[in-house]
Amino acid sequence: MNDHVLARASFTCMEQSTKEDWQLIVPEAMKMAKALPDRILDHLRLLDGDFGGFPVDRLTHSRQTATLALKDGRDEEYVVCALLHDIGDTLGSFNHPDIAAAILKPFVSDENHWMVQHHGVFQGYNFFHHIGLDRNMRDQFKAHPSYEHTAEFVALYDNRAFDPAQPAEPLETFAPMLRRLMASPRNSIYKAAMQPAAQAQ
Ligand SMILES: [Fe+2]
Ligand SMILES: [Fe+2]
Repeated sequence: MNDHVLARASFTCMEQSTKEDWQLIVPEAMKMAKALPDRILDHLRLLDGDFGGFPVDRLTHSRQTATLALKDGRDEEYVVCALLHDIGDTLGSFNHPDIAAAILKPFVSDENHWMVQHHGVFQGYNFFHHIGLDRNMRDQFKAHPSYEHTAEFVALYDNRAFDPAQPAEPLETFAPMLRRLMASPRNSIYKAAMQPAAQAQ
């Protein structure tokens, strides 16, 4: 009865895979892709209660950053970037901005992608001098077209999202925005192969 659930491709090395195998796998990949926002929300919840010495936990910081951007009239893509910018804290101990940037890359503009990927260096202007680093590390990017965009994100939102008294919207406020943004990728090497399945849904 649930043959499609039980069905498995039969190849043991990829070069032996057939079109029929991929007719099984691609719909499964589409289901997996459709549930991406749910996995992201679950992963954001891992930051709940994770203070790491900061005045607010990492989920609160993420919600405050997104709330500030939302209240400032930023568009949904930007607000989602704000919400996710530190999602890599659990896995990228030495490069957390790269994690969020990789997750967001298929769905956002080059400018917002660059902003998320480099926000750590720009936030460093506010504290690197306290830990023996160069607070002006961001200056290496002075000529980059997204420098001001990224400096502004940090100054207006990321920098200001550490106040325990500051209101923050719940994740449920942002979930529909996340789902809309990730409904279909704008950039992906797999886009053309997965597009028909996406349109059929
Ligand atoms: Fe960060
Ligand atoms: Fe942050």
